[in-house]
Order: sequence, then structure tokens, then C-alpha cells
Amino acid sequence: MTDSPFLRACRRQSVERTPVWLMRQAGRYMPEYRAIRAKHSMLDVINTPELAAEITLQPIKTFDLDAAIIFADILPALIGMGFNLDFVPGVGPRIDNPITTTYDIDILGTPPAEETMPHTLEAIRLVSAELDSQNVPLIGFAGAPFTLASYAIEGGASKNYVKTKTLMYNEPAAWKRLMDKLVTVVSDYLIKQAKAGAAALQVFDSWAGALSAQDYVHYIQPYNRKLFSMLERADVPLISFSTRTSAYLDKVAACGGDVISVDWQLPLDVAWQAIGEKRAIQGNLDPVALLAPWRELKPRIDDVLDRASGRAGHIFNLGHGVLPDTPIDNVRRLIDYVHERTSITLTV
Ligand code: CP3
Repeated sequence: MTDSPFLRACRRQSVERTPVWLMRQAGRYMPEYRAIRAKHSMLDVINTPELAAEITLQPIKTFDLDAAIIFADILPALIGMGFNLDFVPGVGPRIDNPITTTYDIDILGTPPAEETMPHTLEAIRLVSAELDSQNVPLIGFAGAPFTLASYAIEGGASKNYVKTKTLMYNEPAAWKRLMDKLVTVVSDYLIKQAKAGAAALQVFDSWAGALSAQDYVHYIQPYNRKLFSMLERADVPLISFSTRTSAYLDKVAACGGDVISVDWQLPLDVAWQAIGEKRAIQGNLDPVALLAPWRELKPRIDDVLDRASGRAGHIFNLGHGVLPDTPIDNVRRLIDYVHERTSITLTV
């Protein structure tokens, strides 16, 4: 397992082919996924280890992927802290008791993950046992403190993060207490995912790009640094994911992580220069390119691979998750093409 192309690339070791996996590889673009979701709510699926395990394995059975990611979500970890979370069909996640006062932050709990997330930890045990024999590593994940805080404060998705930034600017001491609590909950949850069988851990700071570089350094970086340093105890490769952070990728990389996942705003080689040669890089195809015809898709894949230019430490992925209208055939063609183009052919 430690010799799988994905784990080797995380450690910047040579690989026989560039590993590929896709964020949201288990999701609505797959008919098998939609069939399960037609009968069970999002939270039911996440809380039923057998269903979460089955969905995690759907893309592994359908495509030649180099890693699986446990089927879960970043937001249920907030439930154990005291938030009421629901996934409203057609709307997205909703929290009906978001933080509105500093008192709301003081009463948030930080219970251990085995009490609050037992079903996801069990799903990880089930899937990793099954994937071990196929030499496919399983990725565990959680939300980063800022991205989780934005949902906890806004109550759902946000365009301008007005409430989050207002709290951040007006109540710096309360912001620190909130972020410290999130670091506690997320680090504990991720370390327990690794103990349950996750072979790598990805931290999703999806909305970290909402800040200026100075504010990123002031309000996010100390907590992400703390988180990544605590996660070293998990003793598995750590992936740092964010989007729209190309103006301060160096500061993102400074927080830690073995692999930095980058979006498509910068060409891959430019992004790699920004994070430094000592880090592995994951990315960075635009997910919308997967909806385009092959004559448009292929040159975009080629561009990513040309810019990686066979250097050790590239994991092919999208810059963000697979979109619901993505044709299955394009996903298959992408995965097979990356493998074909990067395979080392042994001459006899
Ligand atoms: O990558 C994978 O295959 C693992 C599954 C996964 C999900 N959510 C399942 C999901 C992962 C890694 C996540 C992380 C997640 N969840 C993030 C970080 C990554 C990112 O996309 O930026 C965020 C911000 C969330 C919060 C979230 N969950 C939103 C905003 C939504 C609604 C938007 C949407 O795509 O519907 C969800 C719901 C969600 N999480 C779905 C899936 C497959 C769709 C549920 C459905 O309708 O079936």
C-alpha cells in the first residue's frame, strides 16, 4: 500500500504513472449514486456506514482511480459542537442556529470524534479493509477552521462572507476562541480517521480565497499552522486544499501539508513555483472542462501534464469537485488518458 502511486507521489517519490483521483468522484454525475440518494437523505447516507462505504466504492469499481475518498461531508462535524445541520434538496446545507453572538461561541462543545462521528469512522474501517487488498489508498478529510466557521456563522453558503468577516474584525478575541475550538475538533477527527484506516488526510479550506493576503495571514494562517502541526501525529500524508488563493499560495503552503491542492487560476508550473519545489502538488484541471468535447478537454489535460513535466510529486486532480452534469465517459477518458500518457513503458 505505501508503494501505491498516490502515496508515493504524496512523498515526491518516482511513480510508474501519474496518480489520478477526483474531488467529488462519488456524486450526482453517477447514476448509481443518484439511485441511492433517491431513497436516502444525505445525512442518512453519511450516518449509515454500509451506504457510505458502498458510495465510496462506486467510482473505484467504475474507473481506474488511484485513490478513494471516504463518502462524508465537511459539515456534519459541526453537529457535535451544537449546530443543527440539514442538507436542503436544491438549496444546499443549512444551519438554523448559526452563531450570532460571542456567547454562542462560548457554549460550543468540543466532544471527541468517536462520540460525534462514529458512523464515518466505521465507514472508514469498512472501506479501508476492502481497499487494502486492491492496493488503493483511502483519503480521509475534514473542513478547515475558516471554511467551517463561515458555515457556522452564515448558516449556509455565502457570497461575500459579510457576517463572518464582521465577526472576525469586530470580535477578534471571540474569533480566536471559535477558531481554537474548530482546530481542536478537526484535529481530533482527522487523527481518528487515520487510526481507522485513512492512508492520507485532506483539509478542505474551500473558501479561504475570500480574504486578502494580509487577512489570510492574520485570521487563518495561525490556525491552519496549528492544525497541520497537530496532524503530524497522524503519520500519514497531509493534503492542503483551497480555491482562489493563487494570490497568496506561498502563505497557504507555509501553513503546512505534504501536498498543496491548487485550482486552475494559475498554470500548474507557476503554482508549483509559488508553493516551492519541496512540496507535492495536486490539480489543477477546471471541472467545467470535463463538460467540454474531447477536442477541448484533451489540450487542457495535456497542458497540466506538460507543466508537471514528469516531475515527482504531481497528483492529477481537478481544481474543485466534479460537477453534477459531467458526462461519465469524459471522466473515464480523462483517467485513462492521464495513465496512458504518463506510464513508463518498460522495454525488454
Ligand atoms: O469528494 C468526494 O467524493 C467525497 C465527498 C464529499 C462531499 N462533500 C459529498 C457531498 C466531500 C469531500 C465534500 C466536502 C465538502 N462539503 C466541501 C469542501 C469541498 C468543496 O466542494 O469545496 C464543502 C464546502 C462542503 C459543503 C457542502 N456539501 C455543500 C456546499 C453542498 C451542497 C452543494 C452541492 O454540491 O450539492 C454539500 C452537499 C454534498 N456533499 C453533496 C455531496 C455528494 C451533494 C449532495 C447530493 O445532493 O447528493
